Amino acid sequence: MTERTTVGIVGAGPAGLLLGHLLAAANVPFVIVENRSREHVLSRIRAGVLEQSSVDVLDRFGLADRLHAEGLVHGGIHLQVEGRRFHVDFEDLVGRTVTVYGQQQVVLDLMRRHDELGSAVHYGASEVTPVDVTGDEPHLRFVVGGEQHDLAARFVVGADGYHGVCRTVIPPEALNPAERAYDCAWLGVLADVAPSTDELVYALHPDGFAMHSMRSPSVSRLYLQVDPGEDIADWSDERIWDGLQERLGIPGWTLTPGPITEKSITPMRSSVASTLTYGRLFLAGDAGHIVPPTGAKGLNAAIADVAMLGDALTVAVGGSETALASYSDRALARQWKIQYFSQWMTDMLHLPGPSTPPAERDFRYRSRVGQLDFVTTSRFAQQTLAEQYTGLAIA
Ligand code: FAD
Ligand code: DHB
Repeated sequence: MTERTTVGIVGAGPAGLLLGHLLAAANVPFVIVENRSREHVLSRIRAGVLEQSSVDVLDRFGLADRLHAEGLVHGGIHLQVEGRRFHVDFEDLVGRTVTVYGQQQVVLDLMRRHDELGSAVHYGASEVTPVDVTGDEPHLRFVVGGEQHDLAARFVVGADGYHGVCRTVIPPEALNPAERAYDCAWLGVLADVAPSTDELVYALHPDGFAMHSMRSPSVSRLYLQVDPGEDIADWSDERIWDGLQERLGIPGWTLTPGPITEKSITPMRSSVASTLTYGRLFLAGDAGHIVPPTGAKGLNAAIADVAMLGDALTVAVGGSETALASYSDRALARQWKIQYFSQWMTDMLHLPGPSTPPAERDFRYRSRVGQLDFVTTSRFAQQTLAEQYTGLAIA
């Protein structure tokens, strides 16, 4: 089957689905091609915190009604070190908030609106292949339900994540990612229990990092730092709750445990491609860059890319490619600020990994305690954190 569109989008994660809505609002034709089923895409538990800048983008396109009804607006976070818990008050420091609303809910809202619009979204596509992206006839080949599709597109967008196909089309010397691996991983659980905290708690403890987040007034999301080689099978629910209680506990406060409905271990890595543009192919979101999760930036960075790319593609369809030509540089300049912040939060709140010699491990732990003592007593330091956590301008 041969088709033609203006923008061929690979990936129906938050980046691809949102880009479709930006293009729909500007009457730019698009087709989205996703290699997993709709149910699978909806079942992936990932990010949970939306910057104010991200909420603003969703609002601009009328995509935030349920988010405003059900999302939890947080005016700050708690930073905890050695049993001392300190509230960083974003509203007071920078006059901004964040909204706790699961990535799955964002994706569900975006899918439902595509259903209403009757958008062309192909789930369960196999053999998705971008072809001739540097030539005159860019197109996407893929198979759905046994039928071969050949989709000619003026522009191809790779919104297919870090393990997607689009970044592999770019020659290694052009993609040339700058990378950092971290010597720790996050064990994350979802639990059917009311959160024991009003706002998120990020804690540094001699046993490692722990965090208490949430998804709703009755669902908690919690994380523990573990070594990258850990096997989730070795972590019983009881061991997880004991670890969380030990690391998050402070005098006069206890963590309420509950049934764990999901648990997994995620490694941490930073990676930033040297370019997000290759011919007529444009990368957005995790396809172009990933961060360690500590600053809650992955999903938000994907939304920021898409806001910039959606505007640039719309203007390009109207006749001027100036904004499209600068997309990669603008998105990467913003991304490097996000990488800096995510690395800063990650280093401040985690213990060095098991291969670090004991004296150095002790030194690094102590200096992180010093850093947290500084941040929790300096208004300037808190303002810096608050400005970045609530989201940089998208431009
Ligand atoms: P994705 O969400 O990865 O979407 C890409 C889509 O492309 C997927 O639907 C995928 O199935 C599809 N795809 C892949 N290959 C192909 C192909 N060949 N053809 C067609 N489609 C394809 N961020 C945070 O801020 N906080 C967190 O707690 C957090 N936890 C995370 C946990 C995990 C396990 C992972 C992987 C990420 C996490 N992130 C977190 C990061 C955040 O979820 C991502 O930054 C966000 O999903 C990026 O959105 P995206 O649309 O760019 O990519
Ligand atoms: C969540 C994840 C994060 O990485 C973070 O910094 C805050 C919250 C979450 O999943 O809720």
